[in-house]
Amino acid sequence: MSEPVIKCENVYKIFGANAQKMLQDSNGNVDAKTFQENGCIVGVNNASFEVSKGEMLVVMGLSGSGKSTLLRCISRLTDATGGKIFIEGQDLLQLNNKDLIDLRRNKMGMVFQSFALLPHKTVVENIAFPLQIKGVKTEESIRKAMDMVKLVGLDGRENYFPRELSGGQQQRVGIARSLAVEPDIWFLDEPFSALDPLIRKEMQDEFLRLQEKLQKTIMFITHDFDEALKLADRIAIMKDGIIEQLDTPANIVLNPATEYVRKFTEEVPREKVLLIEDVMDKSKENLGDLKVSKDEIIENVAEKILTQEKTVAVIDKDKNIIGSINPTKIINTVFGGRKNNN
Ligand SMILES: Nc1ncnc2c1ncn2[C@@H]1O[C@H](COP(=O)(O)OP(=O)(O)O)[C@@H](O)[C@H]1O
Ligand SMILES: [Mg+2]
Repeated sequence: MSEPVIKCENVYKIFGANAQKMLQDSNGNVDAKTFQENGCIVGVNNASFEVSKGEMLVVMGLSGSGKSTLLRCISRLTDATGGKIFIEGQDLLQLNNKDLIDLRRNKMGMVFQSFALLPHKTVVENIAFPLQIKGVKTEESIRKAMDMVKLVGLDGRENYFPRELSGGQQQRVGIARSLAVEPDIWFLDEPFSALDPLIRKEMQDEFLRLQEKLQKTIMFITHDFDEALKLADRIAIMKDGIIEQLDTPANIVLNPATEYVRKFTEEVPREKVLLIEDVMDKSKENLGDLKVSKDEIIENVAEKILTQEKTVAVIDKDKNIIGSINPTKIINTVFGGRKNNN
């Protein structure tokens, strides 16, 4: 395994005049209530995790749970009160101002819920702007920006002003603008939360398509569990500044670590999250002709399996048979609730 792109070790962010001292005195055991009684607000409480190259970590949690604060610490828009943060092995808190600006400009892209476009600049000018700040010549920056316009599906609208665009289109500009500098690390803080449900779904699909192509290392924040399930390689669920669980969507649904997480997963249709691999049997006996990949989402192959009389073979990437699945298992998974899923 290569070195993680983002690594957090016991990161704390506590707001308030006494934050530093209270954190020291607590020896890392931060109780939000006690801190609050002493005039401190706990934003992030002892966060440790890694994000590897090309991975999309979705940070999920209700409003006020500390998602934005965590992201702001990692992008160093704010300084963590305690702990260590490494970006590609570099200790973020040790960087001098110049290196920090460099890192932000060249390595990190950010997208926020509010699109924050420049109203008097056109689409293509908005997208070219961060490149121009970096010193790229106007002509070159516009050429590059036009590539981004195409990438996010706005061709033909490059000379529009932000006010002439819908919310979804404006956020496409925001996305294109953050991608123009070709960041390796991409931070998105509730980028689709201000959009209508239908547009939002469209943007999610589009986003997955983009990521398939670009393979960025991503931290994506949302308060919407469905959005998290749809996009994430792994999900971190936050509550009161604490990461309650960080795992794959399937593991979160199958094995919620806390009561709080379990409540989120209750309503999730299992067949939309679990893969064949998550529910297959090891047995390879009495198999029929049909074969399904271990990496299929159950929903996509359920119908096929349900119409078979014989047990269906499960194969890996090299087409080797690694197990089996029968219709009963599918029915249990879809209708049986958690207990039946191993
Ligand atoms: N600048 C600040 N000063 C004081 N408290 C803050 C500040 N920023 C955030 N907080 C508090 O930190 C907690 C986490 O906030 P935030 O990270 O914005 O949550 P989320 O993004 O999950 O909605 C909240 O209780 C919030 O009020
Ligand atoms: Mg937030």
